[in-house]
Amino acid sequence: MKMKPLRIALTKGRLEKDTISLFETIGYNCEAVRNKGRKLILPVGDGEFEVVLAKAADVITYVEHGVCDLGVVGKDTILENGSSFYEILDLGFGKCRFALAGPVGCDFYKGYSSRTIASKYPNVARSFFESKGMDVRVIKIEGSVELAPLLGLSDAIVDIVETGSTLKENGLEVIETICDISARLIVNTASLKLRKREIESLVSRIETARGK
Ligand code: PRP
Repeated sequence: MKMKPLRIALTKGRLEKDTISLFETIGYNCEAVRNKGRKLILPVGDGEFEVVLAKAADVITYVEHGVCDLGVVGKDTILENGSSFYEILDLGFGKCRFALAGPVGCDFYKGYSSRTIASKYPNVARSFFESKGMDVRVIKIEGSVELAPLLGLSDAIVDIVETGSTLKENGLEVIETICDISARLIVNTASLKLRKREIESLVSRIETARGK
């Protein structure tokens, strides 16, 4: 009996190109994804996979609920949104880091006054300061977080830094690196049991392609 395709949720945007290239490198036809138009569920390979393109946090939601067997998502989103799934592979692309950043020359840790932090990742920001025993106010911002200290809304930001150019062009600098980030392959817990052989075969093809 032919199995239904494995369904994979891919993060749109930054990780999209590298993920599609990876699938092509391991030999799967990605024509339909490359020419997707407005279609949301796309076939990949020869009927082995179905790809769904989604926002990062939604990739996690789909995998957690089991409507997608697998997902490709950044470690940043995993750290922010928790993990009731298996994280089985570091894909090695989408490399960047979480950092605390603030205005150039500011002495962030000086004095005892309460600090305000802006971030798209409030849970990551809170747990970073909890680990330091510091009580800070965290304000959630949806994008261009660098604006918050420039507008006087926050003392600093917790955000993703890739090349560092957004910080530089806005008079900000890294105060402290929090952790490294890269794209991960995640799997629904039930799928890992029920579709074990197919998932292991995909993982081993990826590892071979990456020269492990
Ligand atoms: C991310 C991040 C920084 C920028 C860092 O934002 O929030 O703003 O990239 O990259 P850099 O170090 O190479 O300059 P993104 O472009 O994903 O969009 P957003 O600001 O709307 O979240």
